[in-house]
Amino acid sequence: MGMTEDEKVFKDPVHGYIYVHDPVVWDLINTREMQRLRRIRQLGTTYFAYPGGDHSRFSHSLGVYEVIRQMIQAFDRNNYEWPHAFDRLAMVSGLLHDVGHAPFSHALEKTMGTRHENWSVAIIRDAKTEVHQVLESVEPGFAEQVAEVIQKTFSNRLIVSMVSGQLDADRLDYLMRDSIATGVDYGTFDLARIIRVMRPLNDRLVVRQSGLHTVEAYLLARYFMYWQVYFHPVSRAGEVLLRIILERVKELVDSGRAPFMTHPALEPFLRGTVTLDQYLSLDDSALYNAFSVWREGSDAILRDLCGRFLDRRLFKEMPWPAGQNGRLERVRTVVEAAGYDPNYYCIVDETGTVYYDYYLGSQREPNQENAIWLYDQANARLTEMSSLSLPIQAIAEEHRPVRRLYVPAEVLGNERFGKLMDDRTDGGA
Ligand code: NI
Repeated sequence: MGMTEDEKVFKDPVHGYIYVHDPVVWDLINTREMQRLRRIRQLGTTYFAYPGGDHSRFSHSLGVYEVIRQMIQAFDRNNYEWPHAFDRLAMVSGLLHDVGHAPFSHALEKTMGTRHENWSVAIIRDAKTEVHQVLESVEPGFAEQVAEVIQKTFSNRLIVSMVSGQLDADRLDYLMRDSIATGVDYGTFDLARIIRVMRPLNDRLVVRQSGLHTVEAYLLARYFMYWQVYFHPVSRAGEVLLRIILERVKELVDSGRAPFMTHPALEPFLRGTVTLDQYLSLDDSALYNAFSVWREGSDAILRDLCGRFLDRRLFKEMPWPAGQNGRLERVRTVVEAAGYDPNYYCIVDETGTVYYDYYLGSQREPNQENAIWLYDQANARLTEMSSLSLPIQAIAEEHRPVRRLYVPAEVLGNERFGKLMDDRTDGGA
């Protein structure tokens, strides 16, 4: 691996410094596609709940690269067997794993029916992108290897699990970064020690038995981050508004009443016919710009929704257990009577995750690749982590969805709405 003349460094709130020695990594950082990530918020609409949570995908991507670089360094210090031929592939795959994110990161993926992983891989494979050209300058076929690592189809499973797995560099970086940026304290854990207790073992990344509590702390941090940040009702309220704005615009486009398109890629993006070039021209500011124009436009609903988003007049939420269809119908009637179209102003939002997805599906079948394995060196024995940890058993079992109903604050204060909510007789349906 060649070295640059000078070491390049970035100052970073999570890692202190991020070090770049490889000129290929430096060239990738400076591509147009990577620089675009500076203009995409890592946490979408979370800044409505936590004002500090408006950091970019760019800093996270650098961080994932840095975690992988530190892992490889730690393996060397401990004399673990590690395939050095894959050093660059692992670091570059970490750097590029999120290059395909849409404006506001995950917030629009469901509405637009896109997945950022697919766009990442498309950007890496497309001969016209700067990222592809830098990768192919390493050696022909290198871009394809990076694409395979990100798609998790690469033959070396160790490299794949460093970029995406239960204890991957991606999660290690974003949990710490999101926790520090938002200012919540419960999301932090001892990253340096996690890296120190990890080791490669054949085709797996495993944890030394002595690292049990360090990894417990990491998984609990992840659990807290979901509840305190990723599922935060205000953050979700912003996402709900973002989604219904785009749904309204789609509806207007479909019925021949399209609002003024402030950016040439917006309409193809909404229609799902966007080309790679068009996709890469979009960022958060393209949407903000559109919203500020649409709030002055002719459609009353779009005008109102965009104004709400820009001025943070978000909908209010209440818990909404599954199976209340009869009651939902009555809420819609009240929303409509208050002068709002219930298709846009009465939204059930559902989210959820699995905190440790060793067990998948209803069969409760263990998934070997998703497990965290503890390695007892004296007896050369591997044990799946939750079997040694009561707290992890408890959260591994937990996968109840989070469901909430969102309506305008004005409707929540409405007398008819209050009566409806007091009336429990129609609760189940
Ligand atoms: Ni990521």
